Amino acid sequence: MRTKEWWQEAIVYQVYPRSFADANGDGIGDITGIRSRVPYLQELGVDAIWLSPHYPSPMLDAGYDVSDYRSVWETFGTLEEIEALIHEVHDAGMRMFIDIVPNHTSWDHEWFKEALAYPLENNADIPSGARFADGPWARYHLLRGRDGGASVPNNWESVFGGPTWHQVNDADGNPSGWWYLHIFDKSQPDLDWDNNEVRAEFRGHLRFWFDRGIDGFRIDVAHGLAKAAGYPDCPELVEGDATAKNPYWDQDGLHDVWREWRAVADEYDPPRVFVAEAWVQPAERNARYLRKDELHTGFNFPYLRAPWNAPRMREIIDFTLAANAIENAPTTWVLENHDVWRSVTRYAPIIGRTEAETKANMNLELGREVNWEADRDLEVGAARARANFLSMLALPGTAYVYQGQELGLNEVFEIPAEMRQDPAFITTNGERVGRDGCRVPLPWSGEGDALGFNDTGAAWLPQPDSWKKLHADAQSADANSMLNLARTALKLRKELSALGGITDDVEPLVWDNDVPADVLSFVRPARLGGHAIRCVLNVGTHAVTLPYDGSVILKSDESAYSDGLLNPNASVWLTA
Ligand code: NOJ
Ligand code: CA
Repeated sequence: MRTKEWWQEAIVYQVYPRSFADANGDGIGDITGIRSRVPYLQELGVDAIWLSPHYPSPMLDAGYDVSDYRSVWETFGTLEEIEALIHEVHDAGMRMFIDIVPNHTSWDHEWFKEALAYPLENNADIPSGARFADGPWARYHLLRGRDGGASVPNNWESVFGGPTWHQVNDADGNPSGWWYLHIFDKSQPDLDWDNNEVRAEFRGHLRFWFDRGIDGFRIDVAHGLAKAAGYPDCPELVEGDATAKNPYWDQDGLHDVWREWRAVADEYDPPRVFVAEAWVQPAERNARYLRKDELHTGFNFPYLRAPWNAPRMREIIDFTLAANAIENAPTTWVLENHDVWRSVTRYAPIIGRTEAETKANMNLELGREVNWEADRDLEVGAARARANFLSMLALPGTAYVYQGQELGLNEVFEIPAEMRQDPAFITTNGERVGRDGCRVPLPWSGEGDALGFNDTGAAWLPQPDSWKKLHADAQSADANSMLNLARTALKLRKELSALGGITDDVEPLVWDNDVPADVLSFVRPARLGGHAIRCVLNVGTHAVTLPYDGSVILKSDESAYSDGLLNPNASVWLTA
């Protein structure tokens, strides 16, 4: 039996500070901009916000390359401003998570600069694979290359393309034969988490922000911190074998770190909270991050990556709930974030192709989506995104909403190559389109060239013309808009005790089997004296007559449901 905590059934809204609201008009969002929109978030009805990294950074991976963990990027604002934001968010009755990036620092971090300035040993006898861990290099992973130092130490591949190793120059500017590890961009050297100084430093970072009132952290790459001893080559991945994995993901050693972090969070009153970004399969391995002395919650990425396919969606919902139940941990639900295509675009069929072909082309690996230049039916995509949004909100647990998802924004592909900033695009010379398309500044109003993002019209990424109709002001005035649907849904989710709520031990979802296979239908039992609610989502291609007589609580759009008939790409909440 678990006592109910706020983070077990909250709505958390992800703010991507660069693109949320720009108060000083330099084309980049800022803390003052976020502060000005706290009332908007309150009206939307979210319980908490999660702020993507706000730290000083050379911004070679949009701030996930941190050069100082206890400060604020000056383009975003100051420490005083973020403290004011924390207070204002709390005053508005919401909680606040911030991001922390423990797997790697920026190459601009003091520690890495010290390492680069440190004299390296260099002679022909050093065997390949030898580790250099003297002085400041003890905090990172520096290995002797193969072929007398001339080639990379092993076959590991970076998430953004190319090898995970970058060769350091010696004091004379010549290649040194020593290579440092970077699972992501070369500007993001990986830290060595076997090093106690690294661990102590990060516990200090946690306390620094907890002491300033933040309620929790979203932990970047929570599955990456430990590397297999001896840095063995990656095995050949066997297709279909989910247990085969790279020697730098999901290593058992990292759980120690989460136990230490949990102890720090538990020192506080009320205890602070973590949400893990861990891309780990199978789901049972993922659940190990949620053991009761480790992290509180983690993102449900299988759910985010589910194709528009009812049996698959249902299977994923079932197995993620079941895996977390092993640890009696709540499940979270997420359909969008700053790393994946907007759901409207993901669910949009490619015009002229069959559904099956569209699905085969919908690989959601970071920036690896193919066929991005194909024409898509965004109207169908938008209907599906609305329908699945309601279905997500009816599931038990915490749900995440990414800024702009409440406006039904689509992925933006019309970005000139020279404006693109994602290292995935840059490292692969544009072979991978990358993630800039979900990071375009928000359209707030019809005013000015940047649609209310600021007064000057500057924007670090261009907004598409189609957003002139999608801005928040226009949607506020339209009763059938996605924004008003989101507001109503969030409000009802709070009022109707069955929705989102978790009472005690995690229980499997009860599916109705009296509907066709391409329809998802489930009932959330009443609690706290409320009434039960049925959520039905039609993933198929035909309207379906539902065998229920419950009355409508909410439907995904005006025409979604009438006289018992549920349209395709639509959903409805009914009394049950
Ligand atoms: C996951 C973050 O969400 C992503 O944006 C970033 O590029 C990588 N971690 C590296 O920090
Ligand atoms: Ca600004």
